[in-house]
Amino acid sequence: MQDKSATALNTAFAKEVQDGLTAFPKHLSSKYFYDEVGDKLFQDIMAMPEYYLTDCEFEILTNHAAEISSLFSGDGSPFSLFELGAGDGKKTKILLRQLLKNEASFDYRPIDISQNALEQLEASLEKELPKLAINTLQGTYFETLANIAKTNGRRKVILFLGSNIGNLLHPQAIDFLIQLRDVLGDDDLVFMGMDQKKHPQKILDAYNDKTGITETFNKNILARINKEFGGNFDLDKFLHWEVYDPETGTAKSYLVSKEKQSVFIEDLELNVDFTAWETIHTEISQKYDDKTVRWLAEKSGLQIVNQFSDSKGFYKDYIFKKK
Ligand code: AVJ
Repeated sequence: MQDKSATALNTAFAKEVQDGLTAFPKHLSSKYFYDEVGDKLFQDIMAMPEYYLTDCEFEILTNHAAEISSLFSGDGSPFSLFELGAGDGKKTKILLRQLLKNEASFDYRPIDISQNALEQLEASLEKELPKLAINTLQGTYFETLANIAKTNGRRKVILFLGSNIGNLLHPQAIDFLIQLRDVLGDDDLVFMGMDQKKHPQKILDAYNDKTGITETFNKNILARINKEFGGNFDLDKFLHWEVYDPETGTAKSYLVSKEKQSVFIEDLELNVDFTAWETIHTEISQKYDDKTVRWLAEKSGLQIVNQFSDSKGFYKDYIFKKK
């Protein structure tokens, strides 16, 4: 993972760094948080009490496993269970266990941007669920949709858990959902986790823990630039800053330069000047409500056929079909 070989992903990252750090205002994409270190930090985030999203979705999947797996099994014809951004698969294993218990006829096809995450997932599944048929696929969401489309014949159920869609602003989310819709057959399903609007403080706390795990996670993108492109970012000279707009439901993460400074990225021969308090926007984590989800579905030719909420109403999983 950490080598400097010119993989497609590496090249895209280099281009993102070049473009994002020469733009005004500066930005970097959160999809580059996830190397081996970032994967581990995100697991730590999921285990923090402040990061309610994981517990909520875990509760939903646990309480509704039987119903969800029977919806997936449908008429009993074989299907492929795709998962976009599978990560460590901790939540998915609840459904996989239930489906195996029901002797559902399916295979599991986890997709992740992180090859490291996929390898760990595959190893743990081989141990814990040896009967499961599994095929991993490395790539970004957009890249792998094309691969999903090629899987003709079988019914498809596509999992997109963890409110991962929230990294996309609505216009990009609609583009993505349209592409997703275009790979769906009439009997195919999309099962998608979407974090809900709630008390703004609750959201800010989830993305600004006092222990500093989220700060380290956010700064990991700078650590990666140092490691992979010979950058000399001093991580202590940047502040992790989170804002949440309760009107739009958009949480945004920034890295803020605490002082005027220059950074040099050797491999890109790129000098980057920061004024004091200049920002790098790194992530958005969109929050939703039913009205917004219906609007997104409408715009993308999808319909909501089912929804599941946790007991506090913090988080929902929706099932979509082609309209
Ligand atoms: C994995 C994109 C859903 O936005 O909530 C967690 C990533 N960022 N804490 C999110 C994240 C900071 C997470 N997603």
